[in-house]
Amino acid sequence: MSPATSAAKILLADDDESLRKVIEFNLEQEGYDVVTASNGKEALKLFEAHAPDLVITDIKMPDMDGIELLGEIRRRDIEKLVIVVTAFGAVETAIEAMKLGAYDYITKPFNRDELKLIVRKALELQKLRTRTRRLEAELIDRFSFENIIGASAAMGKVFEIIRRVAPSEATILIKGESGTGKELVARAIHYNSPRSKGNYVAVNCSAIPENLLESELFGHKRGAFTGAVADKMGKFALSSGGTIFLDEVADLRFDLQAKLLRVLQEKEIERVGDPRPIKVDIRVIAATNKDLEAMLAEGKFREDLYHRINVIPLTLPSLRERTDDIPLLAHHFKNKFGEADCRIEPDALAALRSYPWPGNVRELENAIERSLLLRKTPERLTADDLPDNIRGHRELHPESLFHIPEEGIKLEEVEKQLLLYSLQKHDWNQTRAAKFLGITRQALIYRMDKYGLKDGKPDAGDRSPE
Ligand SMILES: Nc1ncnc2c1ncn2[C@@H]1O[C@H](COP(=O)(O)OP(=O)(O)OP(=O)(O)O)[C@@H](O)[C@H]1O
Ligand SMILES: [Mg+2]
Repeated sequence: MSPATSAAKILLADDDESLRKVIEFNLEQEGYDVVTASNGKEALKLFEAHAPDLVITDIKMPDMDGIELLGEIRRRDIEKLVIVVTAFGAVETAIEAMKLGAYDYITKPFNRDELKLIVRKALELQKLRTRTRRLEAELIDRFSFENIIGASAAMGKVFEIIRRVAPSEATILIKGESGTGKELVARAIHYNSPRSKGNYVAVNCSAIPENLLESELFGHKRGAFTGAVADKMGKFALSSGGTIFLDEVADLRFDLQAKLLRVLQEKEIERVGDPRPIKVDIRVIAATNKDLEAMLAEGKFREDLYHRINVIPLTLPSLRERTDDIPLLAHHFKNKFGEADCRIEPDALAALRSYPWPGNVRELENAIERSLLLRKTPERLTADDLPDNIRGHRELHPESLFHIPEEGIKLEEVEKQLLLYSLQKHDWNQTRAAKFLGITRQALIYRMDKYGLKDGKPDAGDRSPE
């Protein structure tokens, strides 16, 4: 990437030599760095060699015309801004080019001031886009720890605990609703601990059939029971030197809870069918989405084991408790699914924020994946693309607009969301939407303009690039 202070680089393609010279001269006068080509093929070579910030191309040229060149450039870089030059009176071709993704057009004979203005605006937009991408990436970097995303105060506390406890040997109990990232956090702790070179072994205590669980965890000796045809190493032995993650620990059978307690206290295991204890060097991280305290009270979970694993409790917040992280997570997943160039529109973000997410981050991840696959326009994701239950929730629960986050609210954002709510509710009928809000239609139009609210229906989309 060229340093910020260097001049913007423009590639200019035109077969008319005199016109090319005039445009080149005018652009150089503005301080731009210009490379020129007399046909499309040459332009494409220069495009690859020079990575210009902006391309200006004539439409009619020998050896690959401007439209073909536009297509080739967009295949290499969908974001690159291309301005087409067209003869006065041939505006249809210019419009055609814009449909294919050109940013703007200039008619010849051209007006110098107009040329300079269009170029300046295009370069400004280009710069803004680069900056936005960089900020988005930086933001995600800054608030993530091993891919755990969250900038909210609640997640700040989680990161703080992870940083402090990861290097220690302490047993950790991760609590949190389904899909809040318990497994993700367990891995992060292991890979940021001195045991990271050892094995990370995850055991889901509720998924293994009861009769197999004991031998899965502790291993068995050949012949210990029917079917035990060879010695088997259990998960504890496998994780020796590393970390064992006991997921859904609340579902551990009562008698095995006693055996687990013994492992934790004595640091040794007994294989099924073998009375000789084996030393293991393990660190335990346990997780549950159940209310262990209630289970203690009901006598379903051993109190001594509870105290032994609850050394460092770490509770992950539900997504409802950190709605400010929703946009950040949505962008993270969008990028993860390889759609960094698709923009998530404000109406979609607003709908995502007001949905209660019973399945937490996992549900959000799935919703983003599905919406991206089914979206109507490649370059953007709108509220219309979201699954029905998520989009519908907002319409049924306008009160969720008034959820006031801990960090405070932005009054303008609230105003904007109310406008959007009323417009969507009234199918973008301005008169009815204004009446609903108790303002005049003029006042509504003024505010729509102020917040850049436009009819979000696909056929009414505008063609401007941002
Ligand atoms: N803070 C986060 N940042 C990024 N991705 C996350 C975050 N939290 C969860 N995820 C993603 O959400 C999905 C579910 O996370 P995970 O499996 O860790 O949840 P869990 O709490 O173990 O859920 P369950 O209780 O259902 O087992 C995973 O794909 C994970 O990568
Ligand atoms: Mg899990």
